[in-house]
Amino acid sequence: MERSVITNYINANKERFLNELLDLLRIPSVSADPKYAGDVNKTAEAVKQRLIEAGVDNVEVSPTKGYPVVYGEKIIDPKKPTVIVYGHYDVQPADPINLWHSPPFEPVIKKTEVHPDGAIFARGACDDKGQMYMHVKAFELMMKTGTLPCNVKFMIEGEEEVGSANLGDWIIKNKARLKGDVILISDTSMIAKDIPSIDTGLRGLAYMEVEVTGPNRDLHSGVYGGAVANPVNVLCKLIASCHDENNHITIPGFYDEVLELTNAERAELNLAPFDINEFKKDLNIEQEQGEEGYTTMERTGIRPTLDVNGIWGGYIGEGAKTVLPSKAFAKISMRLVPNQNSDVISKLFQKYFESVAPKSVKVKVTPHHGGEPVVVTPDSPGFKAASLAMTESFGKKPVPTRGGGSIPIVALFKKELGLDSILFGFGLDTDALHSPNEHYGLFNYYKGIETIPLFYKHFSELTK
Ligand code: BES
Ligand code: MN
Ligand code: MN
Repeated sequence: MERSVITNYINANKERFLNELLDLLRIPSVSADPKYAGDVNKTAEAVKQRLIEAGVDNVEVSPTKGYPVVYGEKIIDPKKPTVIVYGHYDVQPADPINLWHSPPFEPVIKKTEVHPDGAIFARGACDDKGQMYMHVKAFELMMKTGTLPCNVKFMIEGEEEVGSANLGDWIIKNKARLKGDVILISDTSMIAKDIPSIDTGLRGLAYMEVEVTGPNRDLHSGVYGGAVANPVNVLCKLIASCHDENNHITIPGFYDEVLELTNAERAELNLAPFDINEFKKDLNIEQEQGEEGYTTMERTGIRPTLDVNGIWGGYIGEGAKTVLPSKAFAKISMRLVPNQNSDVISKLFQKYFESVAPKSVKVKVTPHHGGEPVVVTPDSPGFKAASLAMTESFGKKPVPTRGGGSIPIVALFKKELGLDSILFGFGLDTDALHSPNEHYGLFNYYKGIETIPLFYKHFSELTK
């Protein structure tokens, strides 16, 4: 396939490719908040329409116990290999809304230092509507130019941002039609616009909620203060005790199953270009912080973590109210690495919080969603095809790296379908995923659409 076939088609359809994505971004498909249920379902219908228009067959909005999966396929020849594209049409909540420079569901194009040719600002622009939609447009391109070399199945879900709790059942139920050779996912980052990279692993996740109860009601903090436990004080102390002075996690047994990399593996991981000064500048911090004895890239790539995602209790309104609160709450996540298991770690966490809490309070620990860590071998035809495709479109060989985030279903793809996932991400860590002012570079969007057909080409050749 001539490169010009691809670039000509993209150039001729540039505006439309962009406008279609902007339309998708206007639907607030926030899976975490039931208030948006209608919009999440509407987004599924919109994705279905777009797949049909692009030439996908048998497209359906397939129900689950939660939000539906949009499924469709194009079988050009059952003897040819099959690529299964996975992505998600749900997005994170936009809060805190007041920190957005433009409304999160009214996409605008603005130039930034990193994206001088413009970026789309909207919730979900990068994670994952923009990256998912590149696959729909790349598919359209291959259909319209007669260059689709193999079969394709699309599986676009609506619950990734809340842990993909119902996708596992759906996959098991639909195993028969999910026969394929590789899973292709664009939902991760590359190192920089001019430094393509492919993730060779993702962290797992164990997400917990803690409720600490002291006295049976809010109290006057003068009348009772000093004589009963303050659950907010106690919760803070419990949380602080989870790390030692070297930022190691203190929960007994937490590191038992952590796979330590060899020095050679660590050295290789640290070869990836990473600029700590750029990192600090982007975040406006004097100094990075993390587990003693590991580099920043190791801290996010191969080491587990424990972080408070939210904490509340007592009076948080205007002015001052003297109160000794009855309850305190925190949402705490742990990122996991091979070979940790989310159920085991959740239990260790629960045991720790219940055992170290003083008698003066009651502690309730409730696990939320979890997901297992994964490693992706660079030796598979899928990884090689991704690497060749990026080499061709960027003019540079992509660097293998470890992604710090989680995509909970990837471990299940391997377990239930026996398939490797290729983490073919085109976003940047600086694109403010999950933060106010999320954006996705126009360069990245079009580069993705340009690179994906090359993946198909190389994958078909490598699996002949
Ligand atoms: N796309 C991200 C995961 C990601 C981002 C991986 C960047 C690597 C680099 C995904 O949508 C996500 O946010 N996952 C959640 C999972 C959770 C909600 C179960 C995460 O990592 O917090
Ligand atoms: Mn995502
Ligand atoms: Mn996300």
